[in-house]
Amino acid sequence: MKPVSSSMLIPFVITLLFSFLWATSAHTHEDFLQCLTLHAGNSTSSISQVIYTPANSSYSSVLEFSIQNPRFSTPTTPKPLVIVTPSHISQIQAAIKCSQKHDMQIRVRSGGHDSEGLSYVSYVPFVIIDLINLHSINVDVENGTAWVEAGAILGEVYYKIAEKSRNFGFPAGVCPTVGVGGHFSGGGYGTLLRKYGIAADNIVDAQMIDVKGRILDRESMGEDLFWAIRGGGGASFGVIVAWKIKLVHVPSTVTVFTVNRNLEQNATKLVHRWQYVADKLDEDLIILISLRAANSSQEGRRTIQVSFNSLYLGGIDNLLSLMQESFPELGLVREDCSEMSWIESTLYFAGFPSGESLDVLLSRTPRIRPNFFKAKSDYVMKPIPEVGLEGIWERFYQKEAKEAILALIPYGGRMSEISESAIPFPHRVGNIYKILYLVNWEEEGIVESKRHISWIRRFYSYMVAYVSKSPRAAYVNYRDLDIGTNSKKGNTSYKRASTWGTKYFKSNFNRLVHVKTMVDPTNFFKNEQSIPPLSS
Ligand SMILES: Cc1cc2nc3c(=O)[nH]c(=O)nc-3n(C[C@H](O)[C@H](O)[C@H](O)COP(=O)(O)OP(=O)(O)OC[C@H]3O[C@@H](n4cnc5c(N)ncnc54)[C@H](O)[C@@H]3O)c2cc1C
Ligand SMILES: *[C@@H]1O[C@H](CO)[C@@H](O)[C@H](O)[C@H]1NC(C)=O
Ligand SMILES: *[C@@H]1O[C@H](CO)[C@@H](O)[C@H](O)[C@H]1NC(C)=O
Ligand SMILES: *[C@@H]1O[C@H](CO)[C@@H](O)[C@H](O)[C@H]1NC(C)=O
Ligand SMILES: *[C@@H]1O[C@H](CO)[C@@H](O)[C@H](O)[C@H]1NC(C)=O
Ligand SMILES: *[C@@H]1O[C@H](CO)[C@@H](O)[C@H](O)[C@H]1NC(C)=O
Ligand SMILES: *[C@@H]1O[C@H](CO)[C@@H](O)[C@H](O)[C@H]1NC(C)=O
Repeated sequence: MKPVSSSMLIPFVITLLFSFLWATSAHTHEDFLQCLTLHAGNSTSSISQVIYTPANSSYSSVLEFSIQNPRFSTPTTPKPLVIVTPSHISQIQAAIKCSQKHDMQIRVRSGGHDSEGLSYVSYVPFVIIDLINLHSINVDVENGTAWVEAGAILGEVYYKIAEKSRNFGFPAGVCPTVGVGGHFSGGGYGTLLRKYGIAADNIVDAQMIDVKGRILDRESMGEDLFWAIRGGGGASFGVIVAWKIKLVHVPSTVTVFTVNRNLEQNATKLVHRWQYVADKLDEDLIILISLRAANSSQEGRRTIQVSFNSLYLGGIDNLLSLMQESFPELGLVREDCSEMSWIESTLYFAGFPSGESLDVLLSRTPRIRPNFFKAKSDYVMKPIPEVGLEGIWERFYQKEAKEAILALIPYGGRMSEISESAIPFPHRVGNIYKILYLVNWEEEGIVESKRHISWIRRFYSYMVAYVSKSPRAAYVNYRDLDIGTNSKKGNTSYKRASTWGTKYFKSNFNRLVHVKTMVDPTNFFKNEQSIPPLSS
């Protein structure tokens, strides 16, 4: 007879442990629900209409609706005890108070695009405050400003601005389903960054709720906290309810182009050359690069397909002469270019076919169903030599990279004029471009996940010789827990948090810690990469 293996006991122990945990947390969340009902007051809508627990049939669909990385939507991913989808500020205040009282962590979600799922996953009992119902936008054309609620998505912002005027735009991201709550909190860049900087550079006021449940605006929160929320990363300082943004001027006609070149068409030389011109171009012009592996025209061979994607704030004729002057090697011709309005260019960059109705900007469902993904970022301060680029191509031929993309985002222009400490986002003068590494995969399971994540990590190690150093800088909106974390519960020491904090924020990290210590000394708002207060 075989002896009873101790491993046979494990499922039993786990079941026991789980039912115990469930019983305790069920108890907690009952109390939490009662607390909510008590504190929510009698605002416009009853709080019971915006509360979901696993007992509600729509709990899963509400949870999953805004999950943009299915890597964090598996049966073993921890789930919230309660989801609150406030339709009124008082309900956010109640959720904050009751979470404190019943020792639950809060995760705030706007668009759900966090690469590491921090807006909807936690390893301690938690509540999601999902701002999906707070998405109104009020555009004031006379003053060139707009109030935008945190649950709005970028597509709605662009749509509502264009509805009022075709000569205003806003310098934020290209993916229309990204939420402004997280996006503006971490910076937020798009095709207008060389002309106008990033979204956070163009915020003039905000409304937020702090740890004490107070409603604050710029004046009442003070300039330190207002500084911190514009680029210091969401979730550390409170719940942003709305932003007031400064609209920017766009001409009636803009021009876009996409030029594809593969290795047989001198792509290596072109990417190499691009590094010497991309940050020095006229600031009305941006040329982004995205590249991936593709089949070559030669049977059975692979190549690298490089796309040069561009927005020019003007007409074709001017663009052609600018390109002739600054980047003739690309061989841009009139037929590559299309003139359109700025709002149409947002559809173009989001990948919609020409002639698509602007209404698609209002949809919260992404154009392409999201796959599992892992993202990382880097900053490049000196051009990568051709031999370095060739090492990149080799890595793209590996099988894990079948659906990997490298995006190169040029800086210069307005980005170099803004000081490193103007807002927490520190990546300014000296950067030629930013790199986004992205690997996607469709295959389910931990093995596939590990294989692809390991590929992107090896690639990232390879790049160390070519990118910024001390610190090796990263973009907080391309959240990457590999670069360092707090504990899984969210607490940490200043020293431990500095490892990731200085990569995202450079020396602004210290001021962020200072602000955090002032406004949330007990570290209520926390996650694996939240700013710690000094006391903890
Ligand atoms: C497909 C895709 C395309 C992208 N394109 C771009 C791009 O073009 N440019 C760019 O700069 N970035 C881009 N990003 C990155 C994106 O800017 C960040 O993921 C951003 O944080 C997402 O904001 P969100 O509200 O959608 O995410 P969420 O997951 O809801 O939130 C992100 C973080 O902010 C916190 N947070 C959210 N709302 C609030 C709030 N109201 N108050 C306080 N904290 C809050 C969350 O708790 C979380 O920590 C892209 C990401 C994806 C997945
Ligand atoms: C709630 O409604 C009652 C009756 O309509 C009113 O008397 C009371 O002042 C309201 N309380 C709050 C907090 O709004
Ligand atoms: C969820 O279920 C509870 C209890 O049945 C109910 O009071 C609440 O209204 C439900 N939530 C929604 C959004 O319907
Ligand atoms: C413009 O802003 C001023 C000051 O905030 C405000 O009083 C005025 O009403 C605004 N104009 C419009 C048309 O809303
Ligand atoms: C590649 O570059 C060389 C010179 O650098 C040029 O002669 C050749 O025409 C280019 N090929 C293509 C396909 O553009
Ligand atoms: C590329 O080539 C491989 C094998 O030669 C083939 O299986 C695959 O379908 C091709 N992909 C595309 C996008 O054409
Ligand atoms: C986090 O807090 C717990 C107790 O609340 C403590 O045991 C642990 O050491 C802390 N972790 C860190 C990294 O500070």
